[in-house]
Amino acid sequence: MKLSLVPVSKELQKAPFDCGYPVLNDYLRLYALKNDRLSIGKTFVAVDEGEGVVGYMTLSSAQVEARSLPEAMRAKLPRYPVPAFRIGKLAVDTKFQGQGVGAWLLRQALEKALVVSTEVGLYAVIVDAIDEKAKGFYQKYGFTAFAGYPLMLFLPLATIAKAHS
Ligand SMILES: CC(C)(COP(=O)(O)OP(=O)(O)OC[C@H]1O[C@@H](n2cnc3c(N)ncnc32)[C@H](O)[C@@H]1OP(=O)(O)O)[C@@H](O)C(=O)NCCC(=O)NCCS
Repeated sequence: MKLSLVPVSKELQKAPFDCGYPVLNDYLRLYALKNDRLSIGKTFVAVDEGEGVVGYMTLSSAQVEARSLPEAMRAKLPRYPVPAFRIGKLAVDTKFQGQGVGAWLLRQALEKALVVSTEVGLYAVIVDAIDEKAKGFYQKYGFTAFAGYPLMLFLPLATIAKAHS
């Protein structure tokens, strides 16, 4: 597989895509470009040479209430919300699942977060898992669920930077 990551476009929105979750399919088809243009969420599509769209992810910024983080982290943080980088959506077409595309997309997102963090304050990357199964994918890469929000997970930027160095 030879993957490239490209910004969402009208043409890519029309390409066949089915990750098994209608809500995530519809997002790419109907809302991704609109929200990208509004700069609410930037969508990047994974394209395989000759195969078309194999996956996508949508990125935006977010704020995290310090009180939803573990005690040990909270102790070092101010009382006001801390800035975060959100992977709001990440999905792979069922035909290509289990071939490393999800891991590749996640790596691309974390690398983008590292780049952004050199210019803009970012404490953590957060993700919205669509269900318990998806949660397992993120946990495999070290994400931890927020207290009180079982499908919202975080990974501190410091942990990502350390793994990347
Ligand atoms: C979850 C999803 C993104 C994973 O993508 P994928 O391309 O199938 O995953 P990969 O092939 O890159 O798997 C990478 C690793 O994660 C593991 N993994 C994949 N899905 C997993 C899950 N649900 N729970 C635990 N581990 C998982 C794989 O076994 C693999 O491990 P290995 O490197 O030890 O072999 C994909 O299944 C998907 O799009 N699902 C539907 C939508 C969804 O759930 N999106 C995520 C949250 S919104």
